[in-house]
Amino acid sequence: MNIALIGSGGREHALCQKIYQSKLSKNIICIPGNAGTSTIAKNININFLNFKNLLRTIKSNKIDLVIVGPEEPLVKGLVDFLNKNKIKVFGPNKYAAKLEGSKAFMKSICKKYKIPTAQFKICTNRKSVNNFLKTCKMPLVVKADGLAAGKGVAICKSKKQVISFSNEIFQGKFKSSKKLVLEEFLEGEEASYFLIVDKKGYKFFGSAQDHKRVGENDKGPNTGGMGAYSPAPIINKNLEKKIINKIVNPTLIALKKKRKPYTGFLYVGLMIKNNEPYLIEYNIRMGDPECQVILPRLNTDILKIFNNVLKNKIKKTKISWKKNKCMTIVMCSKGYPGKYKNNKIIKNIKKIKLKKNSFIFHAGTKIINNELLSNGGRVLNITSTGKKFLEIRKNIFRIIKKLNWKDGFFRKDIGWRVI
Ligand code: AMP
Ligand code: GLY
Repeated sequence: MNIALIGSGGREHALCQKIYQSKLSKNIICIPGNAGTSTIAKNININFLNFKNLLRTIKSNKIDLVIVGPEEPLVKGLVDFLNKNKIKVFGPNKYAAKLEGSKAFMKSICKKYKIPTAQFKICTNRKSVNNFLKTCKMPLVVKADGLAAGKGVAICKSKKQVISFSNEIFQGKFKSSKKLVLEEFLEGEEASYFLIVDKKGYKFFGSAQDHKRVGENDKGPNTGGMGAYSPAPIINKNLEKKIINKIVNPTLIALKKKRKPYTGFLYVGLMIKNNEPYLIEYNIRMGDPECQVILPRLNTDILKIFNNVLKNKIKKTKISWKKNKCMTIVMCSKGYPGKYKNNKIIKNIKKIKLKKNSFIFHAGTKIINNELLSNGGRVLNITSTGKKFLEIRKNIFRIIKKLNWKDGFFRKDIGWRVI
C-alpha cells in the first residue's frame, strides 16, 4: 500500500517507522514530515490545511490510505473531505472530532450521559463568569473552548486570575473561539488511556503518563509534553473497567446516536483519584510524546490494524504488545515553551549507534547541506525499552550524554512516579 502520513512531530516519526516496518507498506509520503521521516519516507512540504492541494498530492502519489497525526486537520474536517473524494483515511469525522475541538461540546456530552468529570460552567460573557465565581472555590481551571495548541488552559489560584484569563479569551486571544469553560480543579494523578476505534467496536491501544510542565518536579509552564512512559501502572484492571463503562462507552454511544460514529485513535485524558477515573479531556489522535512510548511496544503490523479499522473489524483483530516497558525523554530547544532559536546544529547524532531497544524519534528537525538542524521547540525524543524504568532511563541518559547537544535541554526526572 502507498501511505500518506500527515504531520511533522515525534508522533509522526514513530508512526512512520511502524508503517515502514509493515509488510503491507510500499511507498510512504510524509506531509510535511521531519528529518527523521526523510530517511524512510519521502517528505513533501505542503500545507496540509489546504485540503484541495493536499488532495492533488494524494492523487498524484497514488495513495491508498491517509493517516492523520495531529488534531487540527481532523477538527477542520479533513476526514469528511477525503471521504467525499473517495480517498481512504484513518481518523475521526469532523463532528466526532469536536470531542477535542470544543471543550464545551465534550462537557455537554459528559453532563448528558453522567460521565465523571470536573464540575463546570460554559460561559460566553463576563457576567456569567462573575456569577459563577460567586458560588465556587479556588483554584479554578479556565479553558478556552476551541483548539489552542495546549495554551488555552489556565489553573487559577485567585478570582482575579480567572477574570483576567477569561477576558483574554473573550477578547479573542485564542482565535478559534470566544467561549470558555470554567472547571472545578481536580486533584489526583493524571494518566492517558488509548483506544483504537471503528464503527462497530474498539481495542485497547496502550496507556501512558506524560510530563506536561517544562521544569523538574512538575514546575513551570505547560508544554506539549517533556517525556512519557508506558504502560501507566496506575491503570489496573478494575480502573480500566470503570474507564470503559463510565466514560468510553457512553461517549461512543452519544456519537452513534447522532449518526456520527467515532473512528480512529481515541486518547482519554484522565485524573485518577481514590481509584476512580475522571475525564479531563479527550484527544482525537495519538498523544505526542505518548505515541513514541506506545508504538515501540506494539507487535502487530500497524497497517493490518488500520486496514481492519476501515473494514470495521477491529473487535476481531488481535493486537499483541511486548512485555517490555518504554520511556522517552524530549530534548527541547533552550527557551521552550517560550522563545527559542531554530537552526542549531545537532552534530553528534551521526556518531550515535543505537542498540535494537533504543530509538531517536525526530520532532522539530530538518537537514540542510547534510547537517541536522533544530526546527522547533521539541526537537528529539530519546526513547528506549527494557524491563525496568530505572534501567531504561539510564540508557536514555547515556544516549543524551553522547549527543551532547549544547543548545538543548531536557527533564532529568521523567518517570519519577515509577522510579
Ligand atoms: P486539557 O487541555 O484540558 O487537558 O488541560 C491541560 C492540563 O491542565 C491537563 O493535562 C491537566 O494537567 C490540567 N487540568 C485540566 N483540567 C483540570 C482540572 N479540572 N483539574 C486539574 N487539572 C486540570
Ligand atoms: N502529550 C499531550 C498531548 O499529546 O496532547
